[in-house]
Amino acid sequence: MDRVKDKVCVVTGGARGIGESIVSKLSAEGAKAVIAIDMNRENLNEVEKKYRNVEGYVVNVTKREEIEKFVGEIKEKYGRIDILVNNAGITRDALIQKMTEEDWDMVIDVNLKGVFNMTQAIAPVMMENNYGSIVSIASIVGEVGNIGQTNYAATKGGVIAMTKTWAKEFPRKGANVRVNAVAPGFILTPMTEKMPEKVLNSIVEKVTLKRMGKPEEIANAVLFLASDEASYITGHTLSVNGGTIL
Ligand SMILES: NC(=O)c1ccc[n+]([C@@H]2O[C@H](COP(=O)([O-])OP(=O)(O)OC[C@H]3O[C@@H](n4cnc5c(N)ncnc54)[C@H](O)[C@@H]3O)[C@@H](O)[C@H]2O)c1
Repeated sequence: MDRVKDKVCVVTGGARGIGESIVSKLSAEGAKAVIAIDMNRENLNEVEKKYRNVEGYVVNVTKREEIEKFVGEIKEKYGRIDILVNNAGITRDALIQKMTEEDWDMVIDVNLKGVFNMTQAIAPVMMENNYGSIVSIASIVGEVGNIGQTNYAATKGGVIAMTKTWAKEFPRKGANVRVNAVAPGFILTPMTEKMPEKVLNSIVEKVTLKRMGKPEEIANAVLFLASDEASYITGHTLSVNGGTIL
């Protein structure tokens, strides 16, 4: 299928987990280029080898100078960026009493400011070309909260609020730039594999479909929102959680 035929796509945190799955879908759906950015060069090399038209760049979403240089290079090479997927994210969990300032700052820096940094750098390129679709990965935790995740919940709730704000801001002068989010439930990736089995089992009990999600189930939702199939959808957060909140 060719749902993103000839599009130039950027996926942050594209070297593993949900990000890798998004990269593989965009590649399979006819993208001209899928640019995976991550901090892990070895994983990026693997992703470049596995999928067609994929290029890996080592860029840290918290470093504004690195992002500026990266966006300049991509603009020079392709002249445009059609799709941005803000996927890079981290967790540093602790109850509020035990959460250090460093835990708070790190998660805010990557999950919230990272999304701000990337969008601020790339949205003008989209507006110049009068075309763009941005999808950011939020979380069920940003919708309903979670014990031990004050920092993470704040960032994911923030991503949902920024999505609505940018959906209003970017088309003000008529540019066809849409902004949406996907809020995954609990998905089996290296991020969640490190959680204790007891915790994982208690999560599954709360899921209507009685299982964790798969990265490709998130990638399918991202692909839909990123593509022109969702041409009249903007400012929306699509929950993909197996019916965990009903
Ligand atoms: N796995 C889940 O259950 C789940 C649920 C809801 C939301 N999410 C969100 O989905 C996204 C992907 O999660 P995942 O489970 O695939 O995580 P993951 O840890 O498996 O992968 C995240 C990737 O992001 C990269 N990354 C981290 N910090 C970065 C930075 N500063 N700059 C560039 N790249 C960076 C990592 O190197 C890694 O390759 C995250 O935003 C996460 O919060 C995950």
